[in-house]
Amino acid sequence: MSEWSSFDIISKGKGIWLIDSKNNKIIDAVGSMWCNVWGHSNPQLVKAITTQSKKIQHSSLFNLTNDPVEKLAKNLIKISPGMNKVFYSDNGSSAMEIAIKMALQYWKNIGETKKTQIATVENGYHGDTFGAMSVGYVPEFFGKFKKQLFSTIQFPVPNKYRIPKGFTFLDYQNYCLEKIEKRFSKNDDIAAFIMESGAQMAGGVIIYPKDFQKRISKLCKKYDILFVLDEIATGFGRLGSMTQYQEQKSIPDIVAYGKMLTGGYLTMAATLANKKIYDSFSGEFYDWKHLFHGHTYTGNPIAAAVANENIHMYEKYNLIKKIQKTSKVFEKFYKEIKEIDVVGDIRHKGMLMGIELVSNKEKKIPIHTKKSINKIFFEEGKKQGIYLRTLGNIVMLVPPLSIQENELEMLLSRTIKTIQAAKSKII
Ligand SMILES: Cc1ncc(COP(=O)(O)O)c(C=O)c1O
Repeated sequence: MSEWSSFDIISKGKGIWLIDSKNNKIIDAVGSMWCNVWGHSNPQLVKAITTQSKKIQHSSLFNLTNDPVEKLAKNLIKISPGMNKVFYSDNGSSAMEIAIKMALQYWKNIGETKKTQIATVENGYHGDTFGAMSVGYVPEFFGKFKKQLFSTIQFPVPNKYRIPKGFTFLDYQNYCLEKIEKRFSKNDDIAAFIMESGAQMAGGVIIYPKDFQKRISKLCKKYDILFVLDEIATGFGRLGSMTQYQEQKSIPDIVAYGKMLTGGYLTMAATLANKKIYDSFSGEFYDWKHLFHGHTYTGNPIAAAVANENIHMYEKYNLIKKIQKTSKVFEKFYKEIKEIDVVGDIRHKGMLMGIELVSNKEKKIPIHTKKSINKIFFEEGKKQGIYLRTLGNIVMLVPPLSIQENELEMLLSRTIKTIQAAKSKII
């Protein structure tokens, strides 16, 4: 941390721009940690917040409910085929903790005691709390807590850029899926398979090949294993569709949303379950089948009100179609980015691009330096007027979803200049 002696203070935001206390403007290239939808200070979202804040600011979901969360539950069920009920929380990590607890308790509730294991994929990321760290183990992030995390059964994920020797990409996909099936068929002890939907974000922007997720969901059905998806970073249009699971033809038993749910304005997340899961939790009080989980700010009405307005705006402005069109701007820049001598690979889908930096293109050696690549890119990005953040050797572009085509062109040109300026400092 010693590389950060001070931090810029952000005082205002307008559209894609963040404005600091010295009046410098930078493009929010990471969508304020991947959650911003309509840009900053959108009047409709701000109005939803102020209108609700005059009615009731917070009232608990313990024994009570409120109008905005009731409406939001209906909205979420409408956009989530196969899902039946909504459980609220206030951040993505908690939404995943809830998903894990729901999945494990489901089997207990129906009297099945053998199914206690959780299967996952390598390099998944589901948040920073202990359950989320256990199911989404990224070694660099969580290695120091390894002993305290519960064990999971992990399977490899095909990454087109790094296929093990002796495999074609297709062979390797089949190999990964065969490994999964082999383990599923060996022992009847797996309660749930948990993965990010559509792509791994923090684990290196690994976009799954076509049918990979669908085939896992089919294996789960075949072996009676719950299929749990994390759409916190990849749903709500980030990868170009409202829910990735629909695009991937892989209906889950449990799915989690967060980040973009409120347009990126307030903290709220939701874990949705199908009827089978929900029904297993109902019974007489003395059956003791309740899900014991609740946070103080669960179901906050102001957050729910802005989430409702956000979802309404997706429909009103046809956002998903717009993302699909604007996303093509990235493609125009592929060649120019690829030609930079430290760029090994670019991975892009929807409003997400990961640019992998390597020290040797042929050998695909990831750049490693004692200095913080993130800090170097942050400083160089600022000079170009963009707020950039890297994850290890990956430059992440995750802009507000409604970014205009000309704005995205500006962001990409400035990113290229940033990489050019930063490269001599990282090799
Ligand atoms: C896929 C995924 N799941 C869960 C989380 C955790 O969400 P939060 O940071 O709101 O706890 C993140 C955060 O980046 C994420 O990318």
